[in-house]
Amino acid sequence: MNQVICPDADALAAQALMLIQKRVLAAIDQQGRATLVLAGGSTPRRLYQQMATQSWPWQQIHLFWGDERFVPHDHPESNYRMARETWLDHVAIPAANIHPMPTTPLTPPEAAAAYERELQAFFGLQPGAFPTFDVIVLGMGEDGHTASLFPHTAALQVCDRIVTVGQKGTEPRLTLTIPTFNCGRCVLFLVAGANKALAYAQVTAPLADGERWPAALIRPQSGDLWWLVESSVLA
Ligand code: 6PG
Repeated sequence: MNQVICPDADALAAQALMLIQKRVLAAIDQQGRATLVLAGGSTPRRLYQQMATQSWPWQQIHLFWGDERFVPHDHPESNYRMARETWLDHVAIPAANIHPMPTTPLTPPEAAAAYERELQAFFGLQPGAFPTFDVIVLGMGEDGHTASLFPHTAALQVCDRIVTVGQKGTEPRLTLTIPTFNCGRCVLFLVAGANKALAYAQVTAPLADGERWPAALIRPQSGDLWWLVESSVLA
């Protein structure tokens, strides 16, 4: 596990940008394209705003989401909308390279199955195989959730699907599954805010309880795991 402590949220975003740029350009060099999974929530906003200033080879970069609230793509709560407003509407990335999770009017299970089919087609996967994303960006809640994998929920047990339905209380969400995240080549957590100190300590503890602190279940099989942490989290 790689840990980088950053003095503030802007420094954390700048560090993430450097790490992502290195991995994305290497992937394009080696395989002609790069695949990047985006997180929602508020922490990545600064990163996405910095991404909007970059002149990367967007034609060779494909974007996916790690989770999505089950709302229309123009809803204020949409992770897709947040990425569009802060970044995607400001760079020349082809529409075909942007792969949002489908939501309404599908049902959550239908949408999860549809996104799974899309990923299987994009990566040319056999049934039962998992995609290998080049970079996966994740956040973490103060309850230790990541993506839409919340404590003590059924989604934590799903090991034979790429995408599943998560539950935030009674609210359904779409989320990539633990095995999907753990097949990533590089998984990057962005954690800011003193309110996350307990979760961070629990998640990174040697014998972490993944049911209670789901981010602890993200242990890439062969990929790299990076924790970019604002210093207030360690105070
Ligand atoms: C979401 C995110 C979620 C987020 C954490 C941290 O859909 O909200 O995917 O998992 O990463 O809740 O959110 P903040 O960055 O806002 O603290």
